Amino acid sequence: MAFKLPALKFDPAALAPALSAESFSYHHGKHHQAYITVANEIVAATPALQGKSIEEVTKIAAADPAAKKLFNNAGQHFNHSLYWLSLSTPGSSKPSAAVSGLIEKGFGDFAAFKTAFVTAALGQFGSGWVWLTKDGDKLAISTTGNAETPLTAGKHPLAVMDVWEHAYYIDYRNNRKGFAETFIDSLIDWSFVEKRIEDTTSLDAGV
Ligand code: FE2
Repeated sequence: MAFKLPALKFDPAALAPALSAESFSYHHGKHHQAYITVANEIVAATPALQGKSIEEVTKIAAADPAAKKLFNNAGQHFNHSLYWLSLSTPGSSKPSAAVSGLIEKGFGDFAAFKTAFVTAALGQFGSGWVWLTKDGDKLAISTTGNAETPLTAGKHPLAVMDVWEHAYYIDYRNNRKGFAETFIDSLIDWSFVEKRIEDTTSLDAGV
């Protein structure tokens, strides 16, 4: 049993210039793969973890202060797996009426939602993530640092933007705001967000 690097659902050149093929080559092919390699090494040496999904391993590791290395790498595998699924080719996705309703209940309108998302991205000091979750009948935004994930708070994240510098430095240099604005304007896959509300399938069952 081992976790695997998920295939991208788009050609890695198809999101340029919003995100370049070079960026995916490093971020997906090297950074994400490195987290998976370390997580698999630890799981292979820990019989109690074998056969568990990435969500289960991440939650187990989060609850064990001695398992910080496993948490950092398993959490990053989960977070990145959701991040790739949160992306679509530029301009290909718009919120459905149902998703627009969740946005309006949470933020008033789409412009206010975008402002809140970009503000959250800029407010996350250092490396981390900006998450979308469903809170009752509203869409909600939250942030975490490093490999932290809403999974460990019992939440079901719908989508995420990576705000580690490795996610945007090749294409945006230090312009995190520009990356966050582009993510909301043209990259986020709203169809995936809507599907994920009901879909609790593991992002990597580890088989
Ligand atoms: Fe990343």
